[in-house]
Amino acid sequence: MTQYAHGLKRVGFTSGFGVLAATLGSAVGLGNIWKFPYLTGANGGAGFLLVYLLATLLVGLPVMIAEITLGRVAKANPISTLQALAPRRQPWWLVGVAGMLAAFLILSFYSEVVAWVFAYVVKAARGSILSSDRQVTEAAFGALISDPLQSLLWQWGVLVFIGSILLLGVTKGIEALTKKLMPLLFLLLLLLCLVSLSLDKAADGLAFLFKPDFSKITASVVLTAMGLAFFKLSIGMGTMMTYGSYFRDEQNIPLTTFRVMTADLCVSMLAGIAIFPAVFSFGFEPAAGPALVFITIPAVFSQIPMGQWLMVVFFVLAAIAATGAMLSLMEVPVVILNERLGLSRPKATLLTLFLLVLVGSGCALSNSTLAHFKLFGLTLFDLFDFVSSNIILPAGGIFIALFVGWVWGIDKFRLALTNHSQLHNEKLVQAVFLLLRYISPLLILIVMLKGLNVF
Ligand code: PHE
Repeated sequence: MTQYAHGLKRVGFTSGFGVLAATLGSAVGLGNIWKFPYLTGANGGAGFLLVYLLATLLVGLPVMIAEITLGRVAKANPISTLQALAPRRQPWWLVGVAGMLAAFLILSFYSEVVAWVFAYVVKAARGSILSSDRQVTEAAFGALISDPLQSLLWQWGVLVFIGSILLLGVTKGIEALTKKLMPLLFLLLLLLCLVSLSLDKAADGLAFLFKPDFSKITASVVLTAMGLAFFKLSIGMGTMMTYGSYFRDEQNIPLTTFRVMTADLCVSMLAGIAIFPAVFSFGFEPAAGPALVFITIPAVFSQIPMGQWLMVVFFVLAAIAATGAMLSLMEVPVVILNERLGLSRPKATLLTLFLLVLVGSGCALSNSTLAHFKLFGLTLFDLFDFVSSNIILPAGGIFIALFVGWVWGIDKFRLALTNHSQLHNEKLVQAVFLLLRYISPLLILIVMLKGLNVF
């Protein structure tokens, strides 16, 4: 137990490995398996990947370190953290409020994608989607998402599932499970890569993924890649700040962050290598959008003996990975409602779930009943995704970077990141600080303004 910014006590992670597992559990999710491949496919392949890697290193890594550090020092929810660390009357805590909004927006569409994953576990077990025939896999996915009742019921099922985990207080159990099962996901992805690489047009897929065509990199592609970097590392909205508040004081923050980022990139790369060779070999469209993974993966499994059951295992593992990410997303509103408004954790959880059922249903119906309901030319599903990843998270990143770089200052930052001079990483601290003070906020701002066509 640690003493906590405004006098309450809170329980933190108890072991270094637990910290790594939970942080990784938040980062790794459908972002790797679903979003990374579909965005890479829709935005021209290797060029997008390159920009995404640059954004992760130049912007993602420093902002993630900053967030975790602030959380660990203040040991509170994002709003209280920023309030406690900022000078009086400066409204930095608004970043925490924006984070809570982002959590709702992300959970609204994320829970729908998890719903598709759950539905695919059942469909895979029935064997109805296993095929290398484009028409079969596309029709199966289309039938699922265009059916309003199925979409809604699966999504509500997902929300009830996550809610029960939180209400029963078994999140630690889930983290332990994730820790054990992630290596299996890794192995299964590796197997998929081998199968995919043995297909006849594998080389085309690899060229798409690794040979950049710079003409395809436009301002909006860069913004999307940067948004993905934020989404992937769960930063810009207080998730990592919240997790940082559970970090132990001896934890080496830069090292943990680096490990999480590397592992996360590896999972995404494996997903990419599993998918693109198959996309080209089976004649799918790389720019198929959110459907990409759901139509391609069954085709790859159709090439392996026991493919049907391995596919069941794959979607179960994907669901487990997504659960870790959803738990961390829920944590932001729940801990804020709990600590700021004094609601008990069960009440905060129920309220969050209730709101999510309301707002999330709009996303669930985005491919059926509400398909023609568009704002700014986007369905609710796409709009929530766009606004969270491409606006709120990067803007949150700017403010977090500016806060550390200009308000909190190098001395406190150094003290926190060296664990009070226990670690000898001054050079690194200085480099991260310079990135936070000048480079990251400027880069994010330029990319945002250009990408949103402001100038
Ligand atoms: N990083 C998670 C994923 O890739 C999604 C997420 C975003 C989780 C923001 C928490 C906060 O699936």
